[in-house]
Amino acid sequence: ARVTVLASGSGSLLQALLDAGDDAEHPARVVAVVSDRAGVGALDRATAAGVPTAVVRPGDHPDRVAWDEALAATVAGTEPDLVVSAGFARLLGPAFLAAFGGRTINTHPALLPAFPGAQPVRDTVAYGVKVTGATVHLVDAGVDTGPVLAQEAVTVDPDDTEDTLHERIKVVERRVLVETVAALVRHGATVTGRGVRIP
Ligand code: GRF
Repeated sequence: ARVTVLASGSGSLLQALLDAGDDAEHPARVVAVVSDRAGVGALDRATAAGVPTAVVRPGDHPDRVAWDEALAATVAGTEPDLVVSAGFARLLGPAFLAAFGGRTINTHPALLPAFPGAQPVRDTVAYGVKVTGATVHLVDAGVDTGPVLAQEAVTVDPDDTEDTLHERIKVVERRVLVETVAALVRHGATVTGRGVRIP
């Protein structure tokens, strides 16, 4: 299956998907990486792996709607079977979801619905919870609100900082994301009233 990855940061989760693609057993290959900003690590990692990249900058478009349409068109050009948002810093808008809703997943470093939004690990440490984790979910029109596909818990240590905790969560995210992509490609996902099941 063809996977297009959306990323805005260092791309360590992207790297896990790139590395998984080298395993003949893994049924998905990253065919493109698209970012909202130039010069990020994710783009360098894609280029190093020989994977095409594209940048769709909000500043290059008159408004959010135009940017959303441009992003959808750019991703459409990569002909993905599945889109993975792995540290993508923007909300996916109506035009994108019209084209790729139902086959776009996101990974979030918290146990949704706890700690949605842009700084979940900082919020987690600030709140003082004892357990957090990683969530992979289908993307819908909300902020981190789509049906949950997979989750795994991560213990919060008393001396954790945002950075130490986030790195430990990302180790789990990388594995859960790769496993979830493989499961989706092999079995698809059935969204029912009680959430989504991967058979
Ligand atoms: C991940 O924790 C992801 O869940 C969050 O941003 C981080 C991206 O990490 N949205 P990286 O850029 O893949 O290293």
